[in-house]
Amino acid sequence: MIGLGTMGAGIAEVLAAAGRTVIGVDADQAALDRGRTIVETSTGRALERDKITADQRTALTERISYHTDFAAVADAEVVIEAVSENLELKRSIFTRLGEVARPETLLATNTSSLPITDIAVASGRADRVVGVHFFNPAPVQRLVEVVKTVLTAPSAQTQALELVNDLGKTPILCGDRAGFVVNALLVPYLNRAARLYQDGCATAAQIDEAMVAAGNPMGPLALIDLVGLDVTVSALDRMYSETRDRRHAPVALLAALVSAGRLGRKTGQGILLQAEPRPAPLIDRSAELPDALLLPYLNDVCRMVEIGYATPEVIDTGMSLGCRMPRPFDVLADLGPAAVLAGQQQIFAATAEPGDRPALLLERLAAAPDPAAALTELRAMA
Ligand code: CAA
Repeated sequence: MIGLGTMGAGIAEVLAAAGRTVIGVDADQAALDRGRTIVETSTGRALERDKITADQRTALTERISYHTDFAAVADAEVVIEAVSENLELKRSIFTRLGEVARPETLLATNTSSLPITDIAVASGRADRVVGVHFFNPAPVQRLVEVVKTVLTAPSAQTQALELVNDLGKTPILCGDRAGFVVNALLVPYLNRAARLYQDGCATAAQIDEAMVAAGNPMGPLALIDLVGLDVTVSALDRMYSETRDRRHAPVALLAALVSAGRLGRKTGQGILLQAEPRPAPLIDRSAELPDALLLPYLNDVCRMVEIGYATPEVIDTGMSLGCRMPRPFDVLADLGPAAVLAGQQQIFAATAEPGDRPALLLERLAAAPDPAAALTELRAMA
């Protein structure tokens, strides 16, 4: 495991919990100590919640060793990199891995926002490189996105899928596109929530409570603090650079908080944890919730299916196991395609954002003689 920050330490814990010997590598002793503390805190919580016994916790932590020397991974079967989202740093690590790792070693990156192909080519053996994208908190979320590039060998893809299954997680296979499946749907939703808050349309509590009432385990603003504002902004930047959809440009408030070093839970201050209380909204638009956030998200879900990037089943698995959100196609079925379309048409009329245009697939579903049956048929597609 290269990099023992929030995600790296979480992945190390998952590997060790599944009985693997984990060689943890980070830049210096301070980084290793932070990583060890993250594993101790998380396994402590797992113990408190009766997820593991004290003996299992001891065995798990003893399976992880800590190193500052890269050569420690020379004999590893799999190397997973989870350093911060910096392309040059990741490329230099993959160049090093190409030199020190065995030729048959599976090389994986946990990046959520950088092109995996750009990282893979730096290794000189891009056929052995995949993305394995875990979700935060890694020990809790059951999903891992396995990302193949145009250069990934089928054997490396199979090995990655098997690894994820062995860890007790569920993989979904994705192409190397901005956001993969889950973040491509999640981060635009988070950005939209941040915009409502920034623009004073509703209070933070109103936004988060409305989305919790809609069945999510936490509100979008609390989730931004959990994921990290830096990670959220990087993921949005990558999406924006690929889609040129203005809705994907990180809102000014998020960008400013990142510049200020307020990155969320990991730094103690973030979007919810701000030093100054915000003034009450001038025009309270909280009555538009949860539709203002939910309907564009469902519309994006339909568009992702429409373009053939993911099936309804893959999207449902992704959102429910990656983020513990309700399965989007269950929500669509509950609300009904016609009601979702009508609401989205209103949103599009108000925003005039091309990205808010109702998806063709949503229009087709709503126009079907029996929309519920059309939706059931769509969900059965392989
Ligand atoms: N180890 C093992 N299990 C743990 C644990 C730990 N350290 N911490 C919590 N759990 C378990 C609990 O035992 C509980 O399990 P059951 O459901 O089986 O009872 C479950 O996790 C949830 O526990 P709580 O409700 O007590 O959780 P909490 O309030 O401490 O934490 C949360 C809640 C798990 C964070 C939950 O709110 C959640 O899932 N939120 C959504 C998080 C999300 O969306 N993550 C994905 C973000 S996107 C991302 O990461 C990708 C990216 O690239 C940006």
